[in-house]
Formats: sequence, C-alpha cells, structure tokens
Amino acid sequence: MTAERARITVFDTTLRDGEQSPGCSMNQQEKLRLAHQLDRLGVDVIEAGFPIASDGDFESVKAIAAVVRRPIIAGLARACRPDIERAWEALKDAAHPRIHVFLATSDIHLQYKLRITRDQCVAQARDAVRFAKSVCEDVEFSPEDATRTDPDFLCRVLTAVVEAGATTLNIPDTVGYTVPSEFADLITTIRQRVKGIEKVTISAHCHNDLGMAVANALAAVGAGARQVECTINGIGERAGNASLEEIVMAMRTRPDRYPYETGVVSEQIFASSQLLSEIIGVPVQPNKAITGRNAFAHEAGIHQDGVLKNPLTYEIMTPKSVGVPDSKLVLGKHSGRHALGMRCEQLGYQFDRRALDDIYRRFVRLADKIKNVEDHHLLELIRETHKPATSATPLIEPLPSAKAAAVAAPAAGTPAAGPPAASIAASSASASNSPAPEPIKPFPIAPVTNAFGAPLPVHSDHHHEHQQQEDYLWGV
Ligand code: KIV
Ligand code: ZN
Repeated sequence: MTAERARITVFDTTLRDGEQSPGCSMNQQEKLRLAHQLDRLGVDVIEAGFPIASDGDFESVKAIAAVVRRPIIAGLARACRPDIERAWEALKDAAHPRIHVFLATSDIHLQYKLRITRDQCVAQARDAVRFAKSVCEDVEFSPEDATRTDPDFLCRVLTAVVEAGATTLNIPDTVGYTVPSEFADLITTIRQRVKGIEKVTISAHCHNDLGMAVANALAAVGAGARQVECTINGIGERAGNASLEEIVMAMRTRPDRYPYETGVVSEQIFASSQLLSEIIGVPVQPNKAITGRNAFAHEAGIHQDGVLKNPLTYEIMTPKSVGVPDSKLVLGKHSGRHALGMRCEQLGYQFDRRALDDIYRRFVRLADKIKNVEDHHLLELIRETHKPATSATPLIEPLPSAKAAAVAAPAAGTPAAGPPAASIAASSASASNSPAPEPIKPFPIAPVTNAFGAPLPVHSDHHHEHQQQEDYLWGV
C-alpha cells in the first residue's frame, strides 16, 4: 500500500520575479503566451506581475487574469494602499485572484532601506494585509529578507498578519543566504510559534546566490511548507530563483525522500523551458539540470554504450517524462563504437565490424580536432573512408594504405554476399557532392573470429557478449 502523498502548491513567479532579472523582461503579448504555457504545465499559481511597477505590467496582469482561468493569478504589491489598489484593479476579473503583499522585516532592511522601527513594521504589515483582505479573499504575505530577520520578530509579524487575514505566509530567502538545515529549522520555528498557523499555508521562496535554492525549498517542504515559489529555468533576481523543473522532478524521481505530489504535467517542462528561452532570448545553460541541452546527452563512450543497452544505466528519469524528444548521443572524442555504429545506421549506413573499426579510428582523429562530430561530418567521413582513390580532398588524412586496404577487403571466410562494404558506400557518395546519402543496402556482417582465428557464428550469445565487452572497452 502506498502512503498518501502531501500535495504541494506550485507557485510560478517566472512572470514576476523571473522577469525582474536583467535581460529577461517580457511585453504583454509574450507574457500572455507564457502564461498559457504555464497553464498547460499545470502550475497552481501564476504570479503575473507587479501591477504598480508600470502600465505595461498592469495591462499584462489584467490580460492574463481575463483569459487564463484555471490557476490562481497573483499580483505583487508593497505593503501600502496605492500598490494594493492597483494590484486589485488588475486582478479583479480573475477567476481566482490573489494579492501578494510584501514588507521587509530584517533589521538591515528596516534601518537602511525602509527607515522604520520594528513596531512600525508590524503595524504596516498588519494594516496592509487587512486592507488587501477587504478586497480579496486570497492574500499572501511575504516578510522580505525573512532568513536574516530575528526569528522572534519574524514570528511576531507573521502572527499579526495571520490575525489580519493572510491565507498564505511566504518565507523568502531574499538574498539566497540560508542553507537547507537552517531553513528547515526556521519553518519548524514558525510552525511552533506563530498563532493561527494551522489555518494558513506556509510557502518557501528561495534565491540561488549560493546555489542552494532548490535544496532549501525542498528542505522547507520537508519541514512542513506546502507551497513552493519557483521559476522556469530558475530565472530571477541575481542568481535566480529555485527552478520549477528541478523541484518537481526531484519529487518525482525520489518519492522515497520527497513523498509529495504536484499538479505539474512534467511532459510540458521542456516546452515551457524552450518557450521562455525563445521569448527572452536567453539560452538555457547547456548543463542545466532537466532542461539544459546536455541533460540527456551522452558523449563518453562507456556512457553511450550503457545507455544504448539500457537507458537506466546513466539516466535517472526518461527524457520523455520531461518532454525532451529523446536522449542524445553526442559524437565526440569520448564516444565509442556502439554509438558511432548506431548513428551510422540512423543515417542509412550499416557496417560490419571491420568497416566500423576503420570508420571509428578516423572518427576519433576527427573528433580530436573538431570536438563535436555532426551528421554531415560523419557522412563525409563515411564517403572518404569508402571512396575510390581519385575523389576529392579528404576531411582527415587517410589511414596508412596497407591498413586501409586490409579494412576494405572482405573478411576471410565472408560468403560471397556482394561487393565489399567500401565499394557500396563509395558508389552512393563519391560521384557527387550532394550531402544526402542514397539509401544503402545493409553491409554484410563479417563473421568474427575467436582467439585462434576460427570464425564464430554471427548470432551466437557468445558473439554477442564478446561484442558487448569489446564495445565497452572501446568506449574508454
Ligand atoms: O525575494 C523576495 O523576497 C521576493 C518577495 C517579493 C517575495 O521576491
Ligand atoms: Zn524573490
């Protein structure tokens, strides 16, 4: 019997906190496009913007509220009347509106930024939430810089805003300063000391300045938070916010450690990431977890060989589960014959073992020079390897001719099953410079010999094992 999993509310702030990061601003039409995709992705809350910040942001929030009807639509407001009125004006036609009020609570912010006392801070927070509650049932309060706030004072402010009607208490690690165990302790303290806490949802909003945003958000959930605030691709102020896809897939991949559920349709993750990247014109870092182009790419030969035999060897989730079309075997100098052979087959060329060995040697020399071997390089290499002596300049220097001749010749004991591999490939390619390969008949598979030179049956298990082991060694 599987234990009941707690449901975590996913609050996406790509359109607000994410948009605040340099180079990531979006216009109304772009925000709308992304909001529709976030809806498909299944997030519970879309923070659509900060309506008082600009007329454009106001119009964007209003437009999203009018047409995206399933999720809660939130708008941000400082703890003052004009902000809250403006936010409500933008949100009032939403099917599920939420006003998100924030006020800094750390002494550093009170003293240097707001220039108010702690008592003034409590009063301002309480009054703002009370006013927001008078227009909107769903009110979230964030004590900005909570993780650098005196915990006693933080609990005092939070108790005041719960009394005033806040329904969600969001705990921001505004400057990305906390660490998982400390953040978990803070959530526990809040649960123990804030009066009325059982009536409200605790939320975590983590920034990534020390690279711990996702770990901190997950630690908060472990300690009882039931909402996480996050962004697609982890965009956001400075080093960004906790990344939505990493939080969701951590829960999905490790339910033994994170027994929680979200409403996110994980198959929509990649599309969401790509759309955001396209809209803001900021590429996803290649090694970004889940959505980077290398997240499911394998170049090392041992890895490629393993993945081709069983993806579980080097993949902890399927590319399909996050909407990535397929895992990618990148052909570079670390690749092995298994992956090379597979790619050749996908390009329409099937080689026997000896021919593949030949191509493989040339391929490794080429990869040493040009890093990633693309399909067009590979096609050229195949043609060069199997061309008549007179054709154009080779992409890499040919192998010493005696060796090449030995490779091109049919293996001893090969039945007369047609021309040698080399001539079949050459016939398709050497006559023209056209990049597209002709459909090629499979090359005859040459029998391999055992250690004493005797031919082995092609389809025996022994042969298969032998080949697999060789593939493994060749991948190194
Ligand atoms: O990081 C932060 O403190 C914020 C608040 C407005 C929630 O983004
Ligand atoms: Zn933030």
